[in-house]
Amino acid sequence: MIKLAWLTDIHLNFLTLQERRCFYQTIIDSNADAVLISGDIAEAPSVKELLLEMEHALNKPIYFVLGNHDYYRGTIESMRLDMAHLTKITQGLKWLSVSGAQKLSEDVLLVGTDGFSDGRYGDYENSPVSLNDSRLIADFFQAKLLSRSHLLTKMQQYADEDARQLLRDIEMGIEKHSPKKMMVLTHVPPFPELCLYEGKQSDDNYLPYFASKAIGDILLTVAQNYPFIEFVTLCGHTHHYAERQMLENLRVTVGAAEYYQPSIQDIITL
Ligand SMILES: [Fe+2]
Repeated sequence: MIKLAWLTDIHLNFLTLQERRCFYQTIIDSNADAVLISGDIAEAPSVKELLLEMEHALNKPIYFVLGNHDYYRGTIESMRLDMAHLTKITQGLKWLSVSGAQKLSEDVLLVGTDGFSDGRYGDYENSPVSLNDSRLIADFFQAKLLSRSHLLTKMQQYADEDARQLLRDIEMGIEKHSPKKMMVLTHVPPFPELCLYEGKQSDDNYLPYFASKAIGDILLTVAQNYPFIEFVTLCGHTHHYAERQMLENLRVTVGAAEYYQPSIQDIITL
């Protein structure tokens, strides 16, 4: 039996060292064997340092993907190089975008990708919403300087790249390990029904920034192609809890989160 502690949107950069230690202790007290983080760990300048601090404190494997905040005050390429390097040089830190499928138990595989909102749900064209992503992530800032349509192209480019990587890892993992269950970790909710705000689905102004259709389409395809595998997807981003059984063998859960109050979303026993 293996116990996993699932965390999301913990935004550790907002906490003092003492507060972080307190949070690490709650994870240790949970007796989890490994930790899953579905993004928004901190911001680009501190993600690496805080992951190392966490690994040192917990002394258990940490499987993670990055969220949009993890790229704030950085560039996507430099963060990805850093995370790939970190995965290579440490025992316990695994950025799922480069590590590929991870075997958690005899029948269970874990895959993951950061995932970006792709403006394909809601009404991007007419939305007055502008998120910090286009101010604080250099790649998106530069695209938006050109036009909103350049920004959309850039968002979709990254969303689609991540979706392709996820599909590749799922298919390779199935071929190699024939799992009965596949856990998928990603930051952005893959379906609009999962993007809740005050109990209701986010409106057409926000949906373009809250959901990734690219990832949702991949999940529907693989769940239909492999009906005997149970797909369980864990994500974050909206900070509002939501859970939907999208297909008989595809369940998606979004974690609730509050800034300054990181918590364990769930202890999953395999
Ligand atoms: Fe977040």
